[in-house]
Parts: sequence; C-alpha cells; structure tokens
Amino acid sequence: MAKTSKKEMEGEVYYPSEQVVTQARVKDWEALASKAEKDLEGFWEAEASELEWYKKWDKVLDRSNPPFFKWFVGARTNIVHNAIDRHLKTHRKNQLALIWESEDGKEERTFSYYAMNREVSRMANVIKSMGVKKGDRVTIYMGRIPEIAFAMLACAKIGAIHSVVFGGFSVDALQGRIDDSQSKLVITMDRSFNNGKVIPLKQTVDEALKRCPTVENVIVVKRVDEDIPMEAGRDHWYHDLLTLPIANGKCPTEELDAEDPLYILYTSGSTGKPKAILHTHGGYMVGTYATLKYVFDVQDEDRYWCAADPGWVTGHSYIVYGPLINGTTSFMFEGGPTYPYPNRWWQCIEKYGITILYTAPTAIRGLMRFGEAWPNKHDLSSLRLLGSVGEPINPEAWKWYHRVIGKEKCPIMDTWWQTETGMFMITPTPTVPLKPGSGTRPFFGQTAEIVDEEGKPVEDGNEGYLVLKNPWPSMLRTIYGDDERYVKQYWTKNPGKYTTGDSAKRDKDGYYWIIGRVDDVIKVSGHRLGTAEVESALVSHSAVAEAAAIGLPHEMKGQGIHCFVILRSGVAPSAELAEELRQHVAHSMGAIARPEEVKIIDKLPKTRSGKIMRRVLKARAQGLPEGDVSTLEE
Ligand code: WTA
Repeated sequence: MAKTSKKEMEGEVYYPSEQVVTQARVKDWEALASKAEKDLEGFWEAEASELEWYKKWDKVLDRSNPPFFKWFVGARTNIVHNAIDRHLKTHRKNQLALIWESEDGKEERTFSYYAMNREVSRMANVIKSMGVKKGDRVTIYMGRIPEIAFAMLACAKIGAIHSVVFGGFSVDALQGRIDDSQSKLVITMDRSFNNGKVIPLKQTVDEALKRCPTVENVIVVKRVDEDIPMEAGRDHWYHDLLTLPIANGKCPTEELDAEDPLYILYTSGSTGKPKAILHTHGGYMVGTYATLKYVFDVQDEDRYWCAADPGWVTGHSYIVYGPLINGTTSFMFEGGPTYPYPNRWWQCIEKYGITILYTAPTAIRGLMRFGEAWPNKHDLSSLRLLGSVGEPINPEAWKWYHRVIGKEKCPIMDTWWQTETGMFMITPTPTVPLKPGSGTRPFFGQTAEIVDEEGKPVEDGNEGYLVLKNPWPSMLRTIYGDDERYVKQYWTKNPGKYTTGDSAKRDKDGYYWIIGRVDDVIKVSGHRLGTAEVESALVSHSAVAEAAAIGLPHEMKGQGIHCFVILRSGVAPSAELAEELRQHVAHSMGAIARPEEVKIIDKLPKTRSGKIMRRVLKARAQGLPEGDVSTLEE
C-alpha cells in the first residue's frame, strides 16, 4: 500500500494497493454504502436472499414495537441449514470446513462439510436422547477443540439454546451462568490446554454443580488419557455415548421461526451480574454472513483463521457461524501465540497457508515484544488480509502488524462491535483507506453518532458517547428473561438510539476513533469483565468488608484490574493478605480476572447515597484531576 495521500484526508492514511482493489468484492464502498443508506431493508433483504430459507419472510423488518425489533418476520429457517445443510448439495460437501491443530502440534484433525454434518448430527442425536428439546438451555464449557463447535451447532440444529461459558472462567462465574440460564445439560471436557498449562475444566464443573440443581446430565469429551472422577448417572463420556445406536450421523434440522432464540451469551455490563445477551436464528445468520463476506471478503481459496476463543462473541460469530455460512475453510488452533515459543502462530500460518488472520491488539502487542526475528523465520506470504478486534489498537501495534506480519500488502480490518451487536458495526472493507487506530466508518446500513450527556451530537473532533441509529439484523433481541433491563440499558439514555457504552471521536473524514468504555466494564486483554463481578469475588472472602475494582491502562493487556478493599474489623492488613485476595479472585472468576494489585485501604470515595465513585479512584490512581466531586460524601 502506498503511504502517500491521494484524496485530501486528515492524518496518516494507508491506501489499498492495485492488487487489493482488483481482488476485492466491494470495489466501490461509497456506492454500496449509499444504496444501503437509502434502502436499509432492501440492502438486508438482498443479503438474506443469498441464503436458503424453508419459507421466506412476509416482512424484512418490523419496527412496530421498538426497541423490540424483529427481522425476517414470518420466515422459517435454522442457522444450521445455511451453515451446513445447504453446502452438502454443492461442491462444498467435500471442501474443508475446519482444520484443527493441537497446542503441542502433534495432532491435526480436519473436517469436510460432509464430516461436519455427521459430527454435528451425532452430537445432536445424543443430546436429544437426553431429553433436550427446543428452547431448553445447554451450557457449553470447553477449550478450543472441534467439539465446542459441534456442541454449539448440535444445539442450534435441534432448536436448543446454547450458552457457552469461556473456558478461562472459573467456578463462581460458571456456576452463576449455569444457574441463571437454568441449563439442563452441561457439555464439557476433562481438561484443556492454555499456554502449556492444563486447565481442569471438569473439576470446575463438579465444583459449580454442587450449587446448580437444574443440571441433569454432563457430557464429557475426553482430551487427555487420564482418569478423572465421573458421577454415575450424571456424567457421561462422549466417546461412550458415540457407540450407542442413537448417535448416528443423521439428524433432521429443526425448522424454526426466524426469531426463535439461537443462543445466549453472558457479558458484563454496568453494575450487577452479567447479562444474558439473546441472539436469534434468522437475523444473526444474515448479519454474520454478510459482514464476514464483505469485510474479510472470504473466497473459496481462502484459509481463514480467527484466533479468538469460541467462548466469546468473536468466536461465536466469526469462528463458528459466519465462516460456515459462507462456506469458508477455517483454521482453529488449540493453544496460544507464544507457547512453547513466540513463533507458534507463524508456524501455523506457514504450515496451513493461512490467508486471513483475525486477532486482538493484546496478542499483537504480546508478540511484538519478542521482536521481528520470530515472524521473519517463517514464510507468511500466503496472508492477504489481517483483522483486529476487542479493544482500540494502538498505532504502534497496528504498524508492526501491518509491516512485519502483513509485509505492507495486507489491509488491516479493525472491526468495532460488541456481544450485543453480534456482527461488525464500525469497520472498513478491504479497499477502504485506513488510518492506524480507527475502525473507519459504520458498516453498510448503519449510522453512528457521537453525542454529549444530553444526547446532542457533538462537533467532529470532540469526544462523546457513541450511539447507533439504525436497527440491524443481528442485534440482540433482549436480555434473556429481563426485557426491562434491555430497554433501560441500551435504549433509555438516548431515546430511539442504541447506546453502546463506548466513548469515541469522529474526525473530519467521518472516521470513528473508539476511546473506551464509559461504564463499569474493563477490557483485560480484550476480554470483557465487569467491576461488579470482581468486587463480588472479593467480598466473598471472609476478610473483606467492601471492595472496589477499576481498570487502569496496562501496556500489554490494554487494561489491568486494580482493586481497593476495606477489611472487616479485627482483620490485620498485610502484604500476604493482599496477595491472597488476588489469588482468591483468580480462583473464583478465572486467571484472566487476577487483579494487578489489591490495595488495602480505610475508606472508599462514595456519593452521599453510598455509591462507590470509581471515577475518583481512577483519577487518584493515575494522578489526574478528580473532576466534579460535589456529590462526594464528607
Ligand atoms: C471494545 C467484542 C476498539 C469496545 C467483539 C466494545 C473495541 C467492547 C473494538 C465489546 C475495536 C471491540 N476497537 N474497541 N475494534 N472491538 N471493542 O462484547 O469497548 O467482548 O464496547 O465484544 O469491546 O466487547 P465484547
């Protein structure tokens, strides 16, 4: 890409090369954007028409009861029909859907679309035989192995609602999510691997289930050849179940309404416990299909790698559903980027000829630290597109990714979106001129705005709250079981608009620059965690009376968790206790939530009504002005 500016644009601009333009599906971004702007429903109807439906819609978008929007009203479908079934009628049947490699590189498994259908059908038949029906919730708690995708798709195939809990979460986080979803079945594995460490997933399930009365059965996929305790009647080895006649490779895909629920995914928001974001079959299917198609421009020849974890929304939309619906060949890697050496990813790219790599800024920063020699040892010439997600990417990391990994020929798709949006919302497509650190402009059919405290648009260049103006097909439909909270959380502060919870700026070229969350969400290495969860983990310790958690900038992780605790009377403060509290949070929530530090203090800044002023804690910790403290008690 040439670095010289063509059109007068502000700041540093990277233009697409001739080759990128020649290859790209969308050559004229402006034309498609303006078409979608003029006819939102027409745009999405055309996308939906590229997929197969048992019965087509009577209406594309029902806006009669906002913010409870409905998409493809009256249509009959099942996302699995488009992710798998429809490919079996074409050349894709024999094409690879999934390539998997184990952390140690000793195992490799591949699945054609035909094989995906067989494996998903077998799992679907097994879970059906356990009495799981349409609408039932199933919790999936696994590492990065093909069976996590089979489990999700098997649920979807029979109309059950999956609830995947990230395999890096621990007992309390898992227990809370199983309990809230009232799952009947848990699908897990004995152990998983992460950066050379063994994670005892089944043991965590056992601990969590002591407090989860709704769970009747646990399916355990064997990953390691070791014995683990199994509870008779409740726990079943998956490989044993597969020997039963019921586990055959044919299972009809349940015909569903477009608006039937597909999954819930718990995510942290402002205050309180995590919210179950609900996505549906029809709209989510169209949204993930179209965004992946346009943004990563997937083609039959591609080998696409989204290095996220299936346990987060990025994995749901862009490891499992989006790629399969597009008929893509995906690569899934069990391990992390730096174990045993910092060339693990580059090895995989070279070995499998990966053409598209989609990852998070934290991974890039982590790899950058080890220097250029590691990637330079490998042939990365197969790459043609790169992607970034999860948090703002600092220009330094962007440029390293672009130069060292992409060899200055791969545009970087910096995709801004959320668990709630289900699909990319602010993102370039490959031919859009790029500015390091900006996700460029909203996706086709979307309009964003930056508003002030009163909801009035601010002038370009000024910071404000990011809101979205138009409905989109893969939008969350509600917070499962809590419509009121859905309305309050997203649609009340700026009536008629979706409040994202992020602050941002727009420059004079209309490019958006995300600054970060404005609520109590902390993004640790791109993982979304809530201060409330960390605080409740802390107060569950017998020494703690009160706790506050905040996110502070962290060089590698983006943000790190910092905690302040007041001890119960009679408990003596000590460095050992502070350390014990750090470990306590890691044990109850998961290692990703281990605080950088726990400070024992005597007093927390609170409002007169007793709310902790985290804003003040944050300012004090960074030596910044405390802002308006007129509501501070004392
Ligand atoms: C942040 C992850 C800047 C943002 C898909 C958002 C980003 C939150 C980007 C959602 C990006 C995500 N640039 N910030 N490209 N992508 N974010 O639900 O703060 O885990 O609100 O979804 O991540 O996190 P979630």
